[in-house]
Amino acid sequence: MSYPYQIKSLQQYKEAYQKSVDQPELFWSEVADTFEWRKKWDRVLDWNFEEPKIKWFEGGKLNITENCIDRHLQSLGETPALIWEPNNPDDRVRVVTYNRLYKRVCQFAQVLKNNGVKKGDRVCIYMGMVPELAYAILGCARIGAIHSVVFGGFSAQSIADRLEDAKAEYIVTADGAFRGDKIIPLKNVIDDALIGNRTVKKVIVYTRTRTPVSMIKGRDVWWEDEMEFAETQVEKEGVVSFPAEEMDAEDPLFILYTSGSTGKPKGVVHSSAGYMIFTTYSFVNVFQYKPGDVHFCTADIGWITGHSYIIYGPLSAGATSVMFEGVPTWPDAGRFWDIVDKHKVNIIYTAPTAIRSLMGYGTAPFEGKDLSSLKILGTVGEPINEEAWHWYNKHVGKEKCPIVDTWWQTETGGILISNLAGVTPDKPTYATLPLPGVQPILVDEEGKEITGNPATGNLCMKAPWPSMLRTTYGDHERCRLNYFSTYENLYFTGDGALRDEEGNYRITGRVDDVLNVSGHRIGTAEVENAINMHYGIVESAVVGYNHHIKGQGIYAYVICNVVHTDEEHMRQDIIQTVSRIIGPIAKPDKIQFVQGLPKTRSGKIMRRVLRKIAEGETENLGDTSTLLDPGVVTDIANGKLN
Ligand code: WT7
Repeated sequence: MSYPYQIKSLQQYKEAYQKSVDQPELFWSEVADTFEWRKKWDRVLDWNFEEPKIKWFEGGKLNITENCIDRHLQSLGETPALIWEPNNPDDRVRVVTYNRLYKRVCQFAQVLKNNGVKKGDRVCIYMGMVPELAYAILGCARIGAIHSVVFGGFSAQSIADRLEDAKAEYIVTADGAFRGDKIIPLKNVIDDALIGNRTVKKVIVYTRTRTPVSMIKGRDVWWEDEMEFAETQVEKEGVVSFPAEEMDAEDPLFILYTSGSTGKPKGVVHSSAGYMIFTTYSFVNVFQYKPGDVHFCTADIGWITGHSYIIYGPLSAGATSVMFEGVPTWPDAGRFWDIVDKHKVNIIYTAPTAIRSLMGYGTAPFEGKDLSSLKILGTVGEPINEEAWHWYNKHVGKEKCPIVDTWWQTETGGILISNLAGVTPDKPTYATLPLPGVQPILVDEEGKEITGNPATGNLCMKAPWPSMLRTTYGDHERCRLNYFSTYENLYFTGDGALRDEEGNYRITGRVDDVLNVSGHRIGTAEVENAINMHYGIVESAVVGYNHHIKGQGIYAYVICNVVHTDEEHMRQDIIQTVSRIIGPIAKPDKIQFVQGLPKTRSGKIMRRVLRKIAEGETENLGDTSTLLDPGVVTDIANGKLN
């Protein structure tokens, strides 16, 4: 593979950026030309942010799996596409070459077809980090079904909500998943999610943990049986084939649910062509991928990072991508470094929360591990603090690897603001400069552009890029309201940022009611709704506070109308409720029982006061004169938990 669009110097970056702004259609059509199309597009871009309408490469026909697999077979057939590292380091590693990946994806596409799945159908995927998850995703893409991967940390209730919202008729899951010393009983969770569900027709179950499961006749089928049967269908005289569905450039590729400021997660919809082009482009440029490099993104495929930088971006670039089933601290905190050493990893891409948690174990976990293969380090998901940045640089990169701090979102599909490793300068805690095609602006509360440097404001985008979300599933108006209505003609990210003299961006965090807990995105309203479902709870208010490992912790103020003699027991019950309704990832870290919440006369909760108290500030709480009862604030501050 060669990447004619790979930027190799600061000068080239500047030129590419300028061209992408002056002639976006020409710029992106040249990139798009390097991909496999069944038919080239009629029009590069058609857009407005009012509706919003975003169409890239309209009239173009393609299938993303032909780009991620078929086009590499001739030159890279025996090259590893995926290197799978199991949870238990003593278990066998699986190396999946492009030839093997092709075969498995064709087989699984056939399985989907045999089970009645058609183009446009929604398939929910709830699996651990096994190669079969990649086959399932790509199998869907091959037949044009829309996958919706749900992270293993979500509860049955969350899955049920997502199944209903997506009107999914098919599920791919496993008996269980290994996570460190734990087993997550995935199929049991699915069974709970399916109580009362009337739309799901088939559940395909892969065997991973040998956890006992119930298999309902007519609905549940075993992955292994189905694959065996399909093998004879796709392979004739040693030649494997399963024709890829011809997709329109704008046909949806997948849905991924993410939290916003309202109670209900939204199904972010990504397109086929634009998503493919931008994830590949950003992968090759940000990580400066060179053929033969081993890329290790530690994320879970249940999140956008895994979709874009374990699966689609790397595979479309013909890269070798490491897929890791376990957790960074089991059996010990040297797990990542073992993997780097064992597979001679060149690029590692992880999250600040993982770095901060590993920092706590000191340098012993590095002993005896050869990290000299590493060339580039990356971080994503939340602002990285200075201390973590330097630790990463010193102990992992040995002060010779550029660090890319990549800012993006589920909605953006790919990295929008980041330095390009070794090509544009890095600056600790700064995501730095926008990628070509990305036009950030800072605005004030009224939406007025803040020009000049340095500057701080709310981060927006003034032009579309190929991998931006197209809609929120089943509710386009919601997409407009959420992202395009706060400021006229702008996409609003929900983040605040500052821009330094050189134009480098530093993301300061969410300015809406969205929390970022260990890199997981959680809406405060969602947690409040879950808490309020518990017996005896009248009302609650949830805010984030600084947490030294998680980035943000969840602090809940709760009004309760039952007499509870044992507060701790009540807290445990509330935590259990949240775990059931959303999932273990949304459990509050602190729960304070209060008599009232600080409300304005119009009934709005004054969250800034609650945030301050959660941060440990009890004196300078700002103007509280508009509160209905300023006295509640004193009571709450007095009862603050440590
Ligand atoms: C939010 C998006 C993008 C994949 C993982 C998270 C925060 C993301 C950075 C960064 C500071 C960051 C933002 C953003 N964020 N990357 N490099 N520096 N903050 O995806 O769950 O959609 O969350 O994560 O607040 O809005 P997500």
